[in-house]
Amino acid sequence: MEPNFQALRKEFPVLARKTYLNSGSYCALANDVKSAFEAYMEDRLLVGANWDVWITKNESVRALTATLLHAGPDEIAVTASVSAGLNALASALDFSGARNKVVVSDFEFPTNAQIWHAQEPRGARVVHVTRAADGYIPLENFAKAIDEQTQLVAITHVCFRNGAKLDIPGIVRLAHAKGAKVLLDCYQSVGSLDIDVKSLGVDFAAGGMLKYLLGSRHTGRGQCLRRRGWAQVPVGGGYAGDRKA
Ligand SMILES: Cc1ncc(COP(=O)(O)O)c(C=O)c1O
Repeated sequence: MEPNFQALRKEFPVLARKTYLNSGSYCALANDVKSAFEAYMEDRLLVGANWDVWITKNESVRALTATLLHAGPDEIAVTASVSAGLNALASALDFSGARNKVVVSDFEFPTNAQIWHAQEPRGARVVHVTRAADGYIPLENFAKAIDEQTQLVAITHVCFRNGAKLDIPGIVRLAHAKGAKVLLDCYQSVGSLDIDVKSLGVDFAAGGMLKYLLGSRHTGRGQCLRRRGWAQVPVGGGYAGDRKA
Protein backbone atom coordinates (compact mmCIF):
# COMPACT_ATOMS: atom_id res chain seq x y z
CA MET A 1 0.00 0.00 0.00
CA GLU A 2 1.29 3.46 -0.93
CA PRO A 3 2.02 5.49 2.27
CA ASN A 4 -0.09 8.63 2.69
CA PHE A 5 2.77 11.08 2.17
CA GLN A 6 0.55 14.16 2.55
CA ALA A 7 -0.57 13.02 6.02
CA LEU A 8 2.97 11.99 6.96
CA ARG A 9 4.37 15.37 5.91
CA LYS A 10 1.88 17.08 8.24
CA GLU A 11 3.53 15.21 11.13
CA PHE A 12 6.68 17.29 10.50
CA PRO A 13 5.64 20.97 10.86
CA VAL A 14 8.97 22.32 9.53
CA LEU A 15 8.11 20.86 6.11
CA ALA A 16 5.38 23.51 5.70
CA ARG A 17 8.12 26.14 5.85
CA LYS A 18 11.16 24.55 4.26
CA THR A 19 12.44 21.87 1.96
CA TYR A 20 14.28 20.05 4.71
CA LEU A 21 17.49 18.38 3.53
CA ASN A 22 19.47 18.30 6.77
CA SER A 23 18.56 14.84 8.14
CA GLY A 24 22.19 13.71 7.83
CA SER A 25 22.97 16.23 10.58
CA TYR A 26 19.80 16.68 12.62
CA CYS A 27 16.44 15.43 11.40
CA ALA A 28 13.16 17.33 11.17
CA LEU A 29 11.16 16.92 14.39
CA ALA A 30 7.82 15.08 14.29
CA ASN A 31 4.76 15.94 16.36
CA ASP A 32 4.97 12.48 17.99
CA VAL A 33 8.48 13.22 19.27
CA LYS A 34 7.32 16.55 20.69
CA SER A 35 4.45 14.73 22.45
CA ALA A 36 6.90 12.21 23.89
CA PHE A 37 9.05 15.06 25.28
CA GLU A 38 5.94 16.61 26.83
CA ALA A 39 4.78 13.31 28.31
CA TYR A 40 8.21 12.86 29.89
CA MET A 41 8.17 16.35 31.42
CA GLU A 42 4.61 15.85 32.66
CA ASP A 43 5.65 12.59 34.26
CA ARG A 44 8.62 14.27 35.97
CA LEU A 45 6.38 17.06 37.24
CA LEU A 46 3.52 14.93 38.47
CA VAL A 47 5.08 11.59 39.37
CA GLY A 48 8.66 12.56 40.19
CA ALA A 49 10.82 9.46 40.03
CA ASN A 50 8.89 7.05 37.85
CA TRP A 51 11.78 4.64 37.94
CA ASP A 52 10.20 1.41 36.71
CA VAL A 53 8.48 3.09 33.78
CA TRP A 54 11.63 4.79 32.46
CA ILE A 55 13.90 1.82 33.06
CA THR A 56 11.40 -0.26 31.10
CA LYS A 57 11.47 2.31 28.29
CA ASN A 58 15.27 2.13 28.24
CA GLU A 59 14.98 -1.63 27.85
CA SER A 60 12.50 -1.22 25.02
CA VAL A 61 14.97 1.13 23.24
CA ARG A 62 17.56 -1.62 23.62
CA ALA A 63 15.19 -4.29 22.26
CA LEU A 64 14.00 -2.13 19.33
CA THR A 65 17.58 -1.21 18.43
CA ALA A 66 18.48 -4.89 18.49
CA THR A 67 15.61 -5.67 16.09
CA LEU A 68 16.74 -2.86 13.79
CA LEU A 69 20.28 -4.24 13.62
CA HIS A 70 19.34 -7.94 13.61
CA ALA A 71 21.24 -8.35 16.88
CA GLY A 72 20.32 -9.60 20.34
CA PRO A 73 19.27 -7.10 23.06
CA ASP A 74 22.19 -8.21 25.24
CA GLU A 75 24.55 -7.00 22.47
CA ILE A 76 23.26 -3.42 22.66
CA ALA A 77 24.65 -0.73 24.97
CA VAL A 78 22.62 2.46 25.27
CA THR A 79 25.13 5.31 25.56
CA ALA A 80 24.86 9.10 25.55
CA SER A 81 26.42 9.49 22.10
CA VAL A 82 28.42 7.63 19.47
CA SER A 83 31.54 9.32 20.87
CA ALA A 84 30.73 8.07 24.38
CA GLY A 85 30.32 4.53 23.04
CA LEU A 86 33.56 4.67 21.05
CA ASN A 87 35.49 6.14 23.98
CA ALA A 88 34.26 3.26 26.16
CA LEU A 89 35.32 0.78 23.49
CA ALA A 90 38.72 2.45 23.06
CA SER A 91 39.31 2.43 26.81
CA ALA A 92 38.85 -1.34 26.84
CA LEU A 93 41.45 -2.01 24.14
CA ASP A 94 45.07 -2.71 25.03
CA PHE A 95 47.59 -1.07 22.68
CA SER A 96 50.68 -1.94 24.68
CA GLY A 97 51.56 -5.05 22.65
CA ALA A 98 52.56 -5.68 19.03
CA ARG A 99 48.91 -5.61 17.88
CA ASN A 100 48.53 -1.86 18.35
CA LYS A 101 47.42 -0.63 14.93
CA VAL A 102 44.05 1.03 14.31
CA VAL A 103 43.13 1.30 10.63
CA VAL A 104 40.64 4.08 9.90
CA SER A 105 39.12 4.98 6.57
CA ASP A 106 39.25 8.45 5.06
CA PHE A 107 35.45 8.43 5.18
CA GLU A 108 35.23 8.48 8.99
CA PHE A 109 33.39 11.18 10.86
CA PRO A 110 36.17 13.47 12.23
CA THR A 111 35.33 12.93 15.89
CA ASN A 112 35.57 9.14 15.43
CA ALA A 113 39.08 9.36 13.95
CA GLN A 114 40.11 11.77 16.71
CA ILE A 115 39.05 9.24 19.35
CA TRP A 116 41.50 6.76 17.80
CA HIS A 117 44.28 9.37 17.61
CA ALA A 118 43.63 10.13 21.29
CA GLN A 119 44.76 6.55 22.01
CA GLU A 120 48.28 7.24 20.67
CA PRO A 121 49.73 8.05 24.11
CA ARG A 122 48.44 4.59 25.12
CA GLY A 123 50.44 2.97 22.32
CA ALA A 124 47.98 2.99 19.42
CA ARG A 125 49.28 3.53 15.88
CA VAL A 126 46.58 5.06 13.70
CA VAL A 127 46.83 4.45 9.96
CA HIS A 128 44.47 6.21 7.53
CA VAL A 129 43.28 4.43 4.40
CA THR A 130 43.10 7.11 1.77
CA ARG A 131 40.94 7.53 -1.30
CA ALA A 132 41.90 6.78 -4.88
CA ALA A 133 41.89 9.51 -7.54
CA ASP A 134 38.16 8.95 -8.20
CA GLY A 135 37.33 9.75 -4.56
CA TYR A 136 36.39 6.18 -3.63
CA ILE A 137 38.38 3.86 -1.33
CA PRO A 138 38.89 0.53 -3.10
CA LEU A 139 39.28 -2.72 -1.16
CA GLU A 140 42.93 -3.02 -2.21
CA ASN A 141 43.76 0.11 -0.18
CA PHE A 142 42.44 -1.65 2.93
CA ALA A 143 44.35 -4.82 1.99
CA LYS A 144 47.59 -2.80 2.01
CA ALA A 145 46.89 -1.34 5.47
CA ILE A 146 45.48 -4.32 7.40
CA ASP A 147 48.10 -6.72 8.77
CA GLU A 148 48.90 -8.94 11.76
CA GLN A 149 49.56 -5.85 13.89
CA THR A 150 46.06 -4.49 13.30
CA GLN A 151 43.79 -4.60 16.30
CA LEU A 152 40.83 -2.67 14.92
CA VAL A 153 39.54 -1.52 11.56
CA ALA A 154 37.18 1.46 11.96
CA ILE A 155 34.96 2.04 8.94
CA THR A 156 31.74 3.80 8.10
CA HIS A 157 28.66 2.29 6.46
CA VAL A 158 27.64 5.45 4.57
CA CYS A 159 30.11 8.32 4.47
CA PHE A 160 28.74 11.49 6.13
CA ARG A 161 30.49 13.67 3.52
CA ASN A 162 29.67 12.12 0.16
CA GLY A 163 27.30 9.18 0.81
CA ALA A 164 29.87 6.62 -0.40
CA LYS A 165 29.40 3.01 0.69
CA LEU A 166 32.45 0.85 1.31
CA ASP A 167 32.71 -2.88 0.58
CA ILE A 168 31.92 -3.87 4.19
CA PRO A 169 31.92 -7.70 3.78
CA GLY A 170 35.21 -7.44 1.85
CA ILE A 171 36.84 -5.32 4.58
CA VAL A 172 35.50 -7.64 7.32
CA ARG A 173 37.01 -10.63 5.46
CA LEU A 174 40.40 -8.91 5.22
CA ALA A 175 40.34 -7.87 8.89
CA HIS A 176 39.26 -11.22 10.29
CA ALA A 177 41.83 -13.04 8.17
CA LYS A 178 44.52 -11.04 10.02
CA GLY A 179 42.86 -11.42 13.45
CA ALA A 180 41.61 -7.81 13.63
CA LYS A 181 38.15 -6.65 14.74
CA VAL A 182 35.87 -4.32 12.80
CA LEU A 183 33.91 -1.33 14.06
CA LEU A 184 31.16 -0.07 11.75
CA ASP A 185 29.79 3.44 12.17
CA CYS A 186 26.17 3.19 11.02
CA TYR A 187 25.05 6.66 12.04
CA GLN A 188 24.34 7.73 8.44
CA SER A 189 22.62 4.46 7.52
CA VAL A 190 20.55 3.43 10.54
CA GLY A 191 16.93 4.25 9.75
CA SER A 192 17.52 4.50 6.01
CA LEU A 193 19.09 1.13 5.17
CA ASP A 194 18.52 -2.37 6.49
CA ILE A 195 21.54 -3.20 8.66
CA ASP A 196 22.19 -6.81 9.55
CA VAL A 197 25.26 -6.77 11.79
CA LYS A 198 25.32 -10.56 11.91
CA SER A 199 25.47 -11.08 8.17
CA LEU A 200 27.87 -8.15 7.74
CA GLY A 201 30.04 -9.89 10.33
CA VAL A 202 31.17 -6.69 12.08
CA ASP A 203 32.31 -6.96 15.70
CA PHE A 204 31.07 -3.55 16.82
CA ALA A 205 28.55 -1.12 15.39
CA ALA A 206 27.64 2.37 16.53
CA GLY A 207 24.83 4.71 15.59
CA GLY A 208 22.28 7.09 17.00
CA MET A 209 18.81 8.50 16.89
CA LEU A 210 19.22 12.08 15.65
CA LYS A 211 19.31 11.53 11.94
CA TYR A 212 17.25 8.99 9.99
CA LEU A 213 15.68 7.55 13.16
CA LEU A 214 14.00 10.93 13.65
CA GLY A 215 14.83 11.35 17.34
CA SER A 216 16.10 14.41 19.14
CA ARG A 217 18.85 15.38 21.52
CA HIS A 218 18.47 14.71 25.26
CA THR A 219 15.64 12.22 24.94
CA GLY A 220 15.47 9.40 22.47
CA ARG A 221 19.20 9.61 21.93
CA GLY A 222 20.10 6.06 22.76
CA GLN A 223 23.10 4.87 20.81
CA CYS A 224 24.19 1.36 20.20
CA LEU A 225 27.35 -0.60 20.32
CA ARG A 226 27.50 -4.23 19.50
CA ARG A 227 30.06 -6.55 20.96
CA ARG A 228 30.67 -10.08 19.86
CA GLY A 229 32.75 -12.61 21.72
CA TRP A 230 34.38 -9.77 23.58
CA ALA A 231 35.55 -10.00 27.17
CA GLN A 232 37.37 -6.69 27.71
CA VAL A 233 35.85 -4.23 30.16
CA PRO A 234 35.77 -0.47 29.51
CA VAL A 235 37.75 1.72 31.90
CA GLY A 236 35.33 3.95 33.72
CA GLY A 237 31.80 3.19 34.69
CA GLY A 238 28.58 4.80 35.64
CA TYR A 239 25.07 4.26 36.71
CA ALA A 240 23.64 1.09 35.13
CA GLY A 241 27.17 0.21 34.03
CA ASP A 242 26.59 -3.48 34.42
CA ARG A 243 26.79 -6.15 31.72
CA LYS A 244 23.75 -4.80 29.84
CA ALA A 245 24.33 -1.06 30.10
C1 LIG B 1 28.65 9.30 10.74
C2 LIG B 1 28.73 9.93 12.09
N1 LIG B 1 29.47 9.33 13.04
C3 LIG B 1 29.60 9.87 14.27
C4 LIG B 1 28.98 11.07 14.60
C5 LIG B 1 29.19 11.63 15.98
O1 LIG B 1 28.13 11.29 16.80
P1 LIG B 1 28.01 11.80 18.31
O2 LIG B 1 27.81 13.27 18.27
O3 LIG B 1 26.80 11.05 18.83
O4 LIG B 1 29.25 11.41 19.02
C6 LIG B 1 28.18 11.71 13.65
C7 LIG B 1 27.49 12.96 14.01
O5 LIG B 1 26.99 13.70 13.22
C8 LIG B 1 28.06 11.13 12.36
O6 LIG B 1 27.36 11.71 11.38
